[in-house]
Amino acid sequence: MRQDILEYLLEHKGQYVSGQKISELFGISRTAVWKHIHVLKQRGYIIDSFTKKGYCLQQAPELLNVEELKEELGDYLLGNTLYYYEKVDSTNNICKRFGMTDAPEGTVVIAEEQTGGRGRLERTFLSPFAKGLWFSVLFRPPFAPMESSKMTLLAAVAVANAIKKNGLSCQIKWPNDILVDSKKLVGILTELNASMESINYLVMGIGVNTNISKKELPRDLKKIVTSFEIEDVSVNRTELLKEILGQLERYYDMAKTVGFGPILEEWRTLSGMLHKNVEVISHNTEYEGKAVDIDEDGNLLVETDQGIKKVIAGDVRVRTKE
Ligand code: BTN
Repeated sequence: MRQDILEYLLEHKGQYVSGQKISELFGISRTAVWKHIHVLKQRGYIIDSFTKKGYCLQQAPELLNVEELKEELGDYLLGNTLYYYEKVDSTNNICKRFGMTDAPEGTVVIAEEQTGGRGRLERTFLSPFAKGLWFSVLFRPPFAPMESSKMTLLAAVAVANAIKKNGLSCQIKWPNDILVDSKKLVGILTELNASMESINYLVMGIGVNTNISKKELPRDLKKIVTSFEIEDVSVNRTELLKEILGQLERYYDMAKTVGFGPILEEWRTLSGMLHKNVEVISHNTEYEGKAVDIDEDGNLLVETDQGIKKVIAGDVRVRTKE
């Protein structure tokens, strides 16, 4: 129904159409019309409404060009099978369900909006309609389960390269956040299903803030989150998604053919964290030290008064005050 109303408004873009007319056309009450219009406005459609005149669609958000994506990704591993949704709870949840079936490696699930976007350490991830790229990729890596944490670093390197190609300089924060001037632009959540010997599937969920504005960010995120729009860099979401998937595929091929060595080396050069003083919160303990390197398994090495500590999981913050 909402789609029908939207199509009608799009056909009459720039003109007023009365609420009465819409309600008659689609056989719903005027309150129901108002509710649908309200949702469209929340999704970024700019619709003027005047009591006597009705509704006038002024501007529609640019949605992902799914046809173009399907056409251009058809010859690649990643994106060969692509599912596009307007609204889901979490693309990772859907992709994990595909992982349980015989869905092919490279299946991509993308949504314009997530109502239950998830981050690492049980955090929520803000994913408003058409304001970013919210997507997940299904992998069936031929590696031992132990190697899976390096897939996370691989993703960070691939996404950072794609971001740079789109005109924004960025750094990686261990293990896989991508920051611009210490503010988060990208979050990556890797989820694994494995037996002792092999990986059944690995879902890599990636969230990139593209056109979310500062005023749309909740107060607690204003100082720690950024977007292409906030950084004043224009970006086409469809192009950016193609670039990210292309880079992911390139690094994944590299990992399968020559191993993770060169990828970890690139991670080091892209990291904004190495040689900085950090605070580590891991397994209910907190300590400070200097991030000195990552080891061959992708764990962060932190030099402390008690010697070098290996961070396998947890939260690491770069200390701003010395
Ligand atoms: C983090 O910042 O801790 C990771 C955030 C990962 C967000 C992405 S958006 C697409 C996918 N679906 C989710 O629910 N989460 C990931």
